[in-house]
Amino acid sequence: MTLRTLESLGSLAGKRVIVRCDLNVPLKDGVITDDGRIRASLGTLDNLINQGARVVVISHLGRPDGTITPEFSLRPVAQRLSELLGKSVGFSSETVGDAASAAVDALADGQITVLENLRFNAAETSKDEGERRAFAAALAEFGDAFVSDGFGVVHRKQASVYELASLLPSAAGLLIAAELDVLDKLTETPERPYTVVLGGSKVSDKLGVIEHLLPRVDNLLIGGGMLFTFLAAQGHAVGKSLLETDQLDRVKGYIADAESRGVTLVLPVDVVVADSFSADADHLVVGADGIESSRLGDTAIGLDIGPETADRFAEIIGRSSTVFWNGPMGVFEFPTFAQGTRTVAEALTRVSGLGVVGGGDSAAAVRKLGFTDDQFGHISTGGGASLEFLEGKKLPGLEVLGW
Ligand code: 3PG
Repeated sequence: MTLRTLESLGSLAGKRVIVRCDLNVPLKDGVITDDGRIRASLGTLDNLINQGARVVVISHLGRPDGTITPEFSLRPVAQRLSELLGKSVGFSSETVGDAASAAVDALADGQITVLENLRFNAAETSKDEGERRAFAAALAEFGDAFVSDGFGVVHRKQASVYELASLLPSAAGLLIAAELDVLDKLTETPERPYTVVLGGSKVSDKLGVIEHLLPRVDNLLIGGGMLFTFLAAQGHAVGKSLLETDQLDRVKGYIADAESRGVTLVLPVDVVVADSFSADADHLVVGADGIESSRLGDTAIGLDIGPETADRFAEIIGRSSTVFWNGPMGVFEFPTFAQGTRTVAEALTRVSGLGVVGGGDSAAAVRKLGFTDDQFGHISTGGGASLEFLEGKKLPGLEVLGW
């Protein structure tokens, strides 16, 4: 099966086109701190506007779980979208119902409006297929066609991602097509050496991808909070660092599996530990086997990979032809503990083959550290989605588009 592309819908001039974007951007006190996902949506929206379509944008923001929660309103997102498109963007404070219907009816050819957060309606994420279908049917009233372009959410079987696509003529937007183009290269024929760098806090979130990638990669580098479960599996004491004791046996299995497959599983040889989880905490660099024997004793909290580890990671990344990176190496939000993430990001910008940053959080991290999108081969807008794609899972939001 092949993905249905935007062209497959024919001319959309004068048609009402619902576009499912992933405009789930980080906000602080109502201010968008990283607009990467809005920018990534512009290609498809511009294309539709230029065709003279009447564009109805739908998206989720955060996880309000069916409750109207003002801090998760898409209003500031609609405003940012208007600035980026350089044209006025309407906004409906209801997702479905009379106000939404009026906003859609008021659209002229080439105009665009945003409907309020899909997840203010419990049916969007309901486990009950009937409820999801009914909500999707209410949304479908607003369109003659449906374009699915929220790559970050294609792993979710939710009303606006899955059911809606089967109720209207539907196709993937340009962002999804571009994401698949790149991620396909990683799963089908990665140029070798192929290195995957995994970070982030929880090893339990990454189990599937580690298992799937071990037989496929040449190097697997482990950083972030989850590294401490790996160090503990090697027999090291980790103080008050993040530790998922229930995953220890599994992680021991991965270490043994990597060894038997000849995969280079690279674990940190040094880490930065601190006396508290704060930006100005007392901190020092210790060997991976010296966390509790440092002057901070068993109260030490690991907050970053150490400089020797970061250099080792950079060196391996530097001689790789394909690199996929998901998850920060440390608590990059605190400048003192951002160095590991910065070193890995810098190394990724120098990859001569394909260097991919995967995920909303990792993408926001590199931008916060001052890197620009064009320094990387590709920045994926999907965190969970890109990981599940690499795991080889069937993603409902793609299957329904013919993928
Ligand atoms: C993401 O941020 O990864 C996507 O927007 C999906 O959000 P969700 O994990 O809340 O479904």
